[in-house]
Amino acid sequence: MRIPVVIVGAGPAGLLLGQLLQRAGIDNLLLERRSPEYVLGRIRAGVLEPGTVEVLEHAGIAQRLRAEGMPHEGVEIGYRGSRHRIALKELTGKVVTVYGQTEVTRDLMEARARSGAPGVYEAEDVTLSDIGGSPRVTYRHQGRVHEVDCDFIAGCDGFHGVSRRSVPADAVTVFERQYSFGWLGVLADFAPLWSELIYAASDRGFALASMRSQTRVRCYIQCSLQDSPGQWSDARFWEEFGRRIGGDIAARIPEVPSLEKSIAPLRSFVAEPLRFGKLFLAGDAAHIVPPTGAKGLNLAVSDVFYLYEALRGFYREKSERALEQYSARCLRRIWRAERFSWWMTRQLHQFPGDGFDGRLQQTEIEYLLESRAAQEALAENYVGLPL
Ligand code: FAD
Ligand code: PHB
Repeated sequence: MRIPVVIVGAGPAGLLLGQLLQRAGIDNLLLERRSPEYVLGRIRAGVLEPGTVEVLEHAGIAQRLRAEGMPHEGVEIGYRGSRHRIALKELTGKVVTVYGQTEVTRDLMEARARSGAPGVYEAEDVTLSDIGGSPRVTYRHQGRVHEVDCDFIAGCDGFHGVSRRSVPADAVTVFERQYSFGWLGVLADFAPLWSELIYAASDRGFALASMRSQTRVRCYIQCSLQDSPGQWSDARFWEEFGRRIGGDIAARIPEVPSLEKSIAPLRSFVAEPLRFGKLFLAGDAAHIVPPTGAKGLNLAVSDVFYLYEALRGFYREKSERALEQYSARCLRRIWRAERFSWWMTRQLHQFPGDGFDGRLQQTEIEYLLESRAAQEALAENYVGLPL
C-alpha cells in the first residue's frame, strides 16, 4: 500500500491532523495502538485557547463545541484563605473555552468516520523505517503484518510513542525537568463548585476546581508520586480538596460517587528538533508541559496546524519552505508555553526544601495579586499567544 501521509497516534493531535489533511484533499492513514473506547476513556485537559477553537472551526468540527463549550472570562487564584480574580477578558479581550479533551476527540473521531478516511485501531508493533529517505511504516493488525510506503510520517503518538524513539539518539536533544509530585484528578457528576476555575495555592498543596459542563466537575489536588488512586477514597479526596480550596467552596461539595480517579505525574520535556528527514513530531510526542498552565492540548493543536500548513504547501505549491521551517516555528511557541507552565507550577504548588525559594514564591504570588501588570502577563499567556 502507498499513501501520502501516515499518522501514528489517534489522540487529539493525530485525529486533528488527519481531519485537516482530509479536508485539503491529502490522503492519510491513521494508526492507533489502542481501541477507540480506550482513547475516549482517558480524562485529560479541559481548557481551550481561542486560537485552538479557531483551528477546530477551520477543521469543520466545532459545531458541538460552539453549542456546549463554556466561555470563561476569568479564572480565580486562591491564596491564604481568599480568592482573587484574574479578569482574562478585561485584560486581554479574549476568553478561554471549557470543553473536555474527550469531547474534542469524540468530535474528531466522528468526523473521520463520516469522511471514510482509513484508520486502524489496535495496530500493534508500529515500526518506522528509512525516515531519512523513502519512509515505510509496518504494523500488525489482527495477526497480519501490513507495510505502507509514504511521503511523510507524522509522529503524533504521545510521550511514550514509537516515533521519537525511532530517531537515532544522537540526533535528538532532550530538555527535561521532573517534579517531585503529581496531580490526583477526580471526575464527578454535580454542578460546578464555582462559576470559574479556581487555582488554589495552600500550605497543604495545590488544588484546582475545574469543570466539564453544568453538571460535571473535574477537580485535582497535588499528591505524592508514591500515592495510588486506590489509596484515595472519595471521602478522603473531597476532605483534602476542601481544606485546600477554602471553606465556602468546600461547603458546596455533595456526596456523589466519583466517575473516575487517576494520578498524572508532572513533567516538563522538550525534544529538539521536531523534524528528522520525513518524520515530523507533533504534540506530546515532542513535548510535555505540567498541566497547571492548561497548555498541553493547546500546544498539540498549534503544532498540528503548522504541520498541516506545511504539508498543504508541499502538495499544493510544491514548496518545501514551510516544512523546513516547521521545527523552529513550533519550538518558539513550545518554549513560551514551557516557561509559562513551569512558572504557574512553581507559583502554586508546595515544593520540598529550601526556605529561600518558599519566600520568593510567596513574594511572587503577592506581587501577582497586587499588580495589574503581572496579572496581564498571566492572562496573556493563559489565553494563549497568537498562532
Ligand atoms: P496523546 O493524547 O497522548 O495521544 C497519543 C496517541 O498515540 C494515544 O492515543 C496513544 O495510544 C497513541 N500511541 C502511543 N504509542 C503508539 C504506537 N506505538 N503506535 C500507535 N499509536 C500509539 N493537559 C492539560 O492541559 N490538562 C490536563 O489536565 C492534562 N492531564 C493529562 C493527564 C495525563 C495522564 C496525560 C498523559 C496528559 C495530560 N494532559 C493534560 C496533556 C494533554 O492531555 C496532552 O497534551 C494531549 O493529550 C496531547 O495530545 P497528543 O495527541 O499529542 O497525545
Ligand atoms: C481540567 O479541567 O482538566 C484542567 C483545567 C485547567 C488546567 C488543567 C486541567 O490547568
